Amino acid sequence: MDYHDLLARLGEGSAHPGGFSATLQLLDSLSLPAGAHILEVGCGTGRTACHLAHLGYRVTAIDLHRHMLDKAVRRARKERVDVRFIQADAAALPLPDHQVDVVFIESVTIFTPWRKTIAEYARVLKPGGLLVDREMVLSGRKTELMSRRLRQFYGIRTLATAGAWKKRLRGCGFSRVQVKEHSRTMGKWGVDHDPLREMDMNWLEDKRMQRMSRTNDRLLLKYGKRLGYAVFTARAPVGSGSE
Ligand SMILES: C[S@@+](CC[C@H](N)C(=O)[O-])C[C@H]1O[C@@H](n2cnc3c(N)ncnc32)[C@H](O)[C@@H]1O
Repeated sequence: MDYHDLLARLGEGSAHPGGFSATLQLLDSLSLPAGAHILEVGCGTGRTACHLAHLGYRVTAIDLHRHMLDKAVRRARKERVDVRFIQADAAALPLPDHQVDVVFIESVTIFTPWRKTIAEYARVLKPGGLLVDREMVLSGRKTELMSRRLRQFYGIRTLATAGAWKKRLRGCGFSRVQVKEHSRTMGKWGVDHDPLREMDMNWLEDKRMQRMSRTNDRLLLKYGKRLGYAVFTARAPVGSGSE
């Protein structure tokens, strides 16, 4: 069992810094164009994807984890919204080039091979389309041991400062790269009440799960002060192979 299995079993609806209230605030501030086609990458149990569908957007949502997606599909059914869910890897998106107006991501890119993944975001976005990505960032000193532990436990493949992420996005052809929100601490995470949360109750007694919960607490205590988060917005390349 890995960290994402744990999140899936817990049915966490907003497993990103700031939780669902931060998502709502961000969406308010973005004023996305009405009816836009939004791809949510790494949708987890689908809370944000369903909310976007409620707002009238056309939503495609992908995640690598089958159990997350099953919960997302059931959530959409209960909420009576239409979301196209696909099990897929962020680094190999199952969409044709230049399909979507917005790629929306909440705490996912850090778990992926970022070069491939950001190139995929650029590929599926229409020229000039909007990328919105909320990610954990490095706000203090990084050591080899810290990177190894966070990689082993959470599966985090890249820990970088907000400045380094901006460079990465520019390097992949994105323009107007902005840091919309930046916190040098992780703050409160996932505190919102999710009325449709589906927790696998039988797993609460599972010894591995309890051990993982304790490891999570220990790692956050030890390294939490060196981690923050940022929300990046950027515009997809224009005129690079678009039809
Ligand atoms: C921290 S959770 C965030 C989930 C959701 N965005 C949210 O905020 O609640 C990370 C999510 O990314 C998914 N994920 C991790 N690596 C992925 C990849 N390579 N491709 C697609 N999804 C991935 C996990 O399955 C998990 O649902």
